[in-house]
Amino acid sequence: MTSTLPGREAVDLLTVTIDGIEVEVPRGTLIIRAAEQAGIEIPRFCDHPLLKPAGACRQCLVDVAMPDREGNVRPMPKPQASCTMEVSPGMVVNTQNTSEVADTAQHGIMEFLLINHPLDCPVCDKGGECPLQNQAMAHGRAATRFIDVKRTFPKPIKISTQILLDRDRCILCQRCTRFSSQIPGDAFIALQGRGGGSAGMEVHGLHGSQIGRFDADVLDFEGGGCNAAVEVDTVAGPAGKPGLASGYAPGPIGPSELDESGRPFASYFSGNTIQICPVGALTSASYRFRSRPFDLVSSESVAEHDSSGAAIRIDMRRGEVLRRLSGNDPEVNEEWITDKDRFAFTWANVDRITVPMVRDEETGELVNTSWSEALDVAARGLEAAKADGGVAALPGGRLTLEDAFAWSAFTRRVLGTNDVDYRSRAASAEEASFLAAHVAGSGLGVTFTDLEFAPQVLLVDFEAEEEVGNVFLRLRKGVIAGRVKVATVAPFLTRGSAKMSAELVAAAPGAAPAALAGLTTTNPAVAEGLAQPGSVIVVGERAALVPGTLSAVLSLAESTGARIAWIPRRAGERAAIEAGLLPTLLPGARPVADAAARVDAESTWGSAVPATVGRDLAGILEALEAGDLAGAVVGGLEFVDLPDPQAARRALAESFVVQLEVRRSEVTEYADVVLPVAPPVEKPGTFINWEGRMRPFAQAMASSTPTDRKVLNDVAAEMGVDLGLAKLEGAIAQYVEFDAWENRAAFETVVASAAPAPSGSDAILATFKLMLDSGRGQDGEVHLAGTAQRPVARLSPAFATKLGVSDEVTVTGPSGSVTLPLVLTDMPDQVVWLPQNSPGCSVYDQLGARAGEIVSLQEVAK
Ligand code: SF4
Ligand code: FES
Repeated sequence: MTSTLPGREAVDLLTVTIDGIEVEVPRGTLIIRAAEQAGIEIPRFCDHPLLKPAGACRQCLVDVAMPDREGNVRPMPKPQASCTMEVSPGMVVNTQNTSEVADTAQHGIMEFLLINHPLDCPVCDKGGECPLQNQAMAHGRAATRFIDVKRTFPKPIKISTQILLDRDRCILCQRCTRFSSQIPGDAFIALQGRGGGSAGMEVHGLHGSQIGRFDADVLDFEGGGCNAAVEVDTVAGPAGKPGLASGYAPGPIGPSELDESGRPFASYFSGNTIQICPVGALTSASYRFRSRPFDLVSSESVAEHDSSGAAIRIDMRRGEVLRRLSGNDPEVNEEWITDKDRFAFTWANVDRITVPMVRDEETGELVNTSWSEALDVAARGLEAAKADGGVAALPGGRLTLEDAFAWSAFTRRVLGTNDVDYRSRAASAEEASFLAAHVAGSGLGVTFTDLEFAPQVLLVDFEAEEEVGNVFLRLRKGVIAGRVKVATVAPFLTRGSAKMSAELVAAAPGAAPAALAGLTTTNPAVAEGLAQPGSVIVVGERAALVPGTLSAVLSLAESTGARIAWIPRRAGERAAIEAGLLPTLLPGARPVADAAARVDAESTWGSAVPATVGRDLAGILEALEAGDLAGAVVGGLEFVDLPDPQAARRALAESFVVQLEVRRSEVTEYADVVLPVAPPVEKPGTFINWEGRMRPFAQAMASSTPTDRKVLNDVAAEMGVDLGLAKLEGAIAQYVEFDAWENRAAFETVVASAAPAPSGSDAILATFKLMLDSGRGQDGEVHLAGTAQRPVARLSPAFATKLGVSDEVTVTGPSGSVTLPLVLTDMPDQVVWLPQNSPGCSVYDQLGARAGEIVSLQEVAK
């Protein structure tokens, strides 16, 4: 019999009997999964549905019988690991529930696992949520027969600044090592040595089988010791003693080391190993010994650090968030999240704004005040600024849909303008046109699953691993399964692209439009792949930096039939577009320039909508500086993210500024009124992820801090306008009335200009943000910061030789210079890559240059 899942190939169904229950499952199903479908739970440790079978722990042994050639069902001579054996027609399986053999085998394995396992459950982080503890209760002996001394190891071993290993708890299930190599492709930890090895290196010169960092020392490339323990004061050890670091980096870490991280366990996804470790062997430096699972209150939520909309679990104790875990959403993030989503959550409490502030006219300082006075000062100031030229809105890209809708309503109905742009980053009119024509109101488009099954994916100005980690994981899953081919239009193959075996469509910054136009000639296999049904062109927000890139993407999609997925970095970008936080767009994809769309919006809102297309971010800043606009309402704005931070500073210095913000920032120093708003953990709301999927979440933490929506509703009331947005339901009800408008604006094609051609010691600047960088969303997380990549500059070997640079390079732009260690990279000559916003290198602020522009490099006299 066969069965067909929508969009997938037909599958063969087999019938097997488990504990007397007949169950029909697809061919290739593991016995342990078939048992789950029959409602039977077989104990297991190493098995994980998203990892390849290993058969490492032997806890899942069952009794199996199969028909022979004559059809007689014959039992196998020994119990079998149900997590590695696939079902076959007519198979009869008896688990611990119905077979004494299986039950005895499982009890035996459990006894072996516990022989050396410490009985430290009362102080172990995993105690209370530990599969070993739970299954020992269910399938273990009531009392131990082991009377000897248990094996111990130095602990904790620091395998990164964030991940700590207590080897004596490890049951060698290899979930952590299989995750690292199979899912993100970061095989930096490995099972080393052989055998039980109770004495270890000191006695027989061999390792006992243990988890360790995959480093040169363990492989005996150099040095003689084995995981020599070095005391480090940054890791907590038992009884207040320092923790222990062990293992060595492969040789001295020089500035030109190819492993720019300088650490063996270099992964943006390392925290997942802690979550899937079935015992307490892996813990995080930030959570270790801080709480017990049964003291925690858990809430499901959605991560705020990128546009994937990853499901997370927030664990709190007495009103404080202590940790975050991955949720399980098979359609979105499966069971994995980035380390940023997992560990970066204290940001909301660093420099938190707790009360409203207004600027004292005499001293020029911000002073705390009451909500009523702050709202009054904001309302009066905005009214004056409106009369004096107008007020614009810069709401940022991290808003929920409900808050974004409130900003949109406030801008149109209270400020009476379309001068609004959520893009607090480099942007262009071409991008606004693309978003209006192809993103706004398009609903659920390309999905994570579509990416996993696309025959060809072409990435344009998008580094999946750095920008939206879950997209990288899903693409890599498809690549590893042999379904997906990835190509990337970029100056060089990053480590993330290499881990997806991506084909490079080489293009220096500024040359992407030409590279896309010439794809059939330069990379014919990629062009052919894009013509296959289901193929996707993924384009990132950096495409806005080079005029003509989005036009070229659309043209390529049209000629090949490939679908387009636009994937921004920030969590609130898609909701902002749907809510109409663009100068050309009203909610529901209504073009401002379309009179019928405006009339429709007016009838929904019951008030006038300005008819003039507004200014974008650059236009707003220009108008503020020139005095054509007199005020701005800002939120989620960071100067270092803006292409011209100095212009933004000058613009805000000239204006009446109302800031809605969670934390104090440099922008606060320019604000006349500061109104505190709640971070995501303190409010309910809805993110819309890059797929266009609604990701609603509930309020996890009790809070009296209002949302952007509530604050804007109150300011509007002070200015005599009832927005009707005091309640969340009000915002949702109004938004729903803005059904997607059918007559979308047409895309306005932009012709690409010629790419710059630098010579001498000049170079084209290539840059993007690393996942872990100087972003304020990671503030307060010192252990996480230690796992960030080391900021380096990249040049081609020939260009470096021409300049005479070897260890470090100094890059100079219009505003200044940065000096970083040099890493030679296979990339075009006359191009330099820098991290956009990492320690010691803020490209916009320090250099004053953007990607695709010319910078100069310091030559060294030979
Ligand atoms: Fe398994 Fe944990 Fe040991 Fe890794 S550290 S092998 S996940 S028990
Ligand atoms: Fe089957 Fe570990 S769960 S061998």
